[in-house]
Amino acid sequence: MSLNIEILDSCDSTNAVLASRPDAQHGTVVATRSQTAGRGQRGNSWEAEPGKNLTFSLLLRPQGFPAARQFELSMLVALGVADVLNSLFARLGFRDLEARIKWPNDIYVGHKKIVGILIENQLSGAGIDRTIVGIGVNVNQTRFLSDAPNPTSVALLTGRTLALEPLLGEMADVIMTYVDQYLAAPVPEALRQTYIQCSYPGYGLQATYAEPDGEPFDAIIMDVSPDGRLTLSNGRSYYFKEIALVLPEKNQG
Ligand code: BTN
Repeated sequence: MSLNIEILDSCDSTNAVLASRPDAQHGTVVATRSQTAGRGQRGNSWEAEPGKNLTFSLLLRPQGFPAARQFELSMLVALGVADVLNSLFARLGFRDLEARIKWPNDIYVGHKKIVGILIENQLSGAGIDRTIVGIGVNVNQTRFLSDAPNPTSVALLTGRTLALEPLLGEMADVIMTYVDQYLAAPVPEALRQTYIQCSYPGYGLQATYAEPDGEPFDAIIMDVSPDGRLTLSNGRSYYFKEIALVLPEKNQG
């Protein structure tokens, strides 16, 4: 594995920058100090105060990896990000803080979102040609102006201000290591188990879900499928957008 990290002063979206470079190699990372048109999931924008947070994209070229199994890459990325944050919290002496994955790939601490991940796959037939992994980590920002319901940051959780570049290097390195090791010897069942164990709100714990226009109900995560469907303890499986997690009331404002 070799990482090639480039840090731009400013750009519209690091995902867009990588998308505009067809020759970029596996392991290329584009980060920016100031992202002017950061893209989020569901067509949302992504807020990041200039110079305060990590905003970066990592290019994967998982040669021959089946498109039908793209969620395995998404799980590896989310686990890598969560593991780096959990090591960071432990190093800072905050062992009670725990980063968890809110399906499909948000990272939460408690009921608040600390990382957003936007993965864009370019397919070639039944395989993946390029995967652009866009990651926004709230690090030193303490005031959030967008209407995102529940943001938090390392600074808000710990009161500490961090240097961004070492954290960028560590995160890119861990994600690439997880991806490369997995591509060399994939073990989907073990990956699914690890992902479920790391999932929000906690392994085997109930959370409240709602189908569009449906009544909220409490359920436990039972499984995730290779294509990313979530199976809950009500016996049903859902694709992204077919189910929403209902956050506890006090964390919505
Ligand atoms: C989400 O809505 O949760 C996903 C947010 C992803 C934001 C990151 S910041 C770096 C990369 N570039 C973008 O334009 N978006 C992603």
